[in-house]
Amino acid sequence: MQNVTIINHPLISHKVAMLRDHNTNTKQFRELVEEITTLVTYEAFKDIPTVTKEVTTPLETCKQQVIADNTVAVIPILRAGLGMVNGVHALFPTAKVGHIGMYRDEETCQPQEYYCKLPNGIENMIAVVLDPMLATGGSAIAAVDLLKKRGVTKIKCMHIIAAPEGIEKLHKAHPDVQIYCATCDRCLNQNSYILPGLGDAGDRLFGTK
Ligand code: PRP
Ligand code: URA
Repeated sequence: MQNVTIINHPLISHKVAMLRDHNTNTKQFRELVEEITTLVTYEAFKDIPTVTKEVTTPLETCKQQVIADNTVAVIPILRAGLGMVNGVHALFPTAKVGHIGMYRDEETCQPQEYYCKLPNGIENMIAVVLDPMLATGGSAIAAVDLLKKRGVTKIKCMHIIAAPEGIEKLHKAHPDVQIYCATCDRCLNQNSYILPGLGDAGDRLFGTK
């Protein structure tokens, strides 16, 4: 599928195994989410545009490609997307951060938006939506809808675990959006949880259950 990248890498696979494990505690879970996000960021930022900067080394002056200020904003979907922000900042600390609050209704699994604060000038930036879980795809689609309504034209979505159903639905709704997933799982269960998955990402990150 064009614009869909599942990153098959031994380092990521190794860390995802630890993330899934029900014995992994909150601290370890948080650290793993950050580390995996950093690895996915390396891949997802491959085509970020650069500008030429002149740098003076101890020996001479040279030209070097750098990422210009205000090029990228990351947009975590609350709550679980918050756990990925430090993972991006580890590689690119100047990325702006916008927040979209969204939760799945327990009965219908439809996303309910409750908060939105985006950086000024977002319409001129590349927006990278962060959410560790892409299950039915409803939350990611709603976040992309919202960004497009605000005039954003370049959007990427970064996930750790995706269900095939979610990838298909997001890609169908927004074929122009580049989707990056650390791994793609088997399917959704009857409650729209990802199998084998890792359970509820927000609860595991924040210790709420
Ligand atoms: C989880 C997850 C995604 C969403 C994915 O959030 O973090 O945002 O579900 O499911 P979908 O693809 O079917 O929309 P949740 O609604 O549990 O909220 P939380 O992060 O606040 O726990
Ligand atoms: N949200 C989660 O946190 N986990 C899932 O498996 C599906 C949605």
